[in-house]
Amino acid sequence: MLKGRNFIDPTDFTIEELDEVMNLAQDIKEDQDSYIDVCRGKILATLFYEPSTRTRFSFEAAMLRLGGKVVGFSEPGSSSVQKGESLRDTIRTVGCYSDIITMRHPKEGAPNYAIDYSYVPFINAGDGGHQHPTQTLTDLFTIRESKGRLDDMVIGLCGDLKFGRTVHSLLKAMSEHKNIRFVLISPEELQIPKYIKNMMDKKGIEYKEVERLEDVIDELDILYMTRVQKERFFNEADYIRLKDSYILDEEKLKNAKSDLAILHPLPRVNEIAYEVDDDPRAWYFKQVKNGMYVRMALIMKLLGVEKC
Ligand code: NCD
Repeated sequence: MLKGRNFIDPTDFTIEELDEVMNLAQDIKEDQDSYIDVCRGKILATLFYEPSTRTRFSFEAAMLRLGGKVVGFSEPGSSSVQKGESLRDTIRTVGCYSDIITMRHPKEGAPNYAIDYSYVPFINAGDGGHQHPTQTLTDLFTIRESKGRLDDMVIGLCGDLKFGRTVHSLLKAMSEHKNIRFVLISPEELQIPKYIKNMMDKKGIEYKEVERLEDVIDELDILYMTRVQKERFFNEADYIRLKDSYILDEEKLKNAKSDLAILHPLPRVNEIAYEVDDDPRAWYFKQVKNGMYVRMALIMKLLGVEKC
């Protein structure tokens, strides 16, 4: 039963519960007209303390396409946060006006704190370099769509594995599936955090860490590209040195499998050449659209509303 629950980490839901959300997303995708009014009278609050294009727009579009309404801010400077209001008071207040809240916050763990003060279901839209569970739902849905399964595959994650919260959430979620092997491709400074490695070791998940994409691209069923997370660097010189570590182009894809699926949470900076967009293996814009369907399904499940 997902009604009334929060979603702040992908493992808050079991594999079966994630499937339940994805199955609903699939039905919405195929039959959107049947859902245009299911959230009539409901309000989603979007609290974005950090920049966003896809996540905020897709949440807003999701609620509007379900017939609900949206309130919120995309700039904390335009709210009472600017006057010094605490996060707990903002969450309590917003919960008085809305039926469900989604928040993006630069501090890791902020959602764990916020849920203690929320009167309504709460969704983490990204907390610092920590987790991003709704992007993971999007990623799982897209992997399932491209491969027809979520078990038995080799997944390459490439780029900023240290600060990339989408990577952390995806690794956690995919580690629940059978016969998954990870190839972690990053410069040494941007390797995945220790706590994720510990989690994989504990579960007996097979993974290897490499620096060169060219050396492993032929092994992969999924290639998950990410940008170097500029805003989480302490030192600009390090960012400049590392930012163009990987640029995926048609030349590099020559050795890849013909049914490879290339994903990217976006925004892309430089890590995928535009020429790849027309390659049938590029899934990242389909992934963007899927993000709206899974958020529609998630909102419906947490609110406990059903197709009329
Ligand atoms: C990601 C994020 O915000 O973590 N974007 C997104 O939500 N689709 C990835 C990123 O910013 O690099």
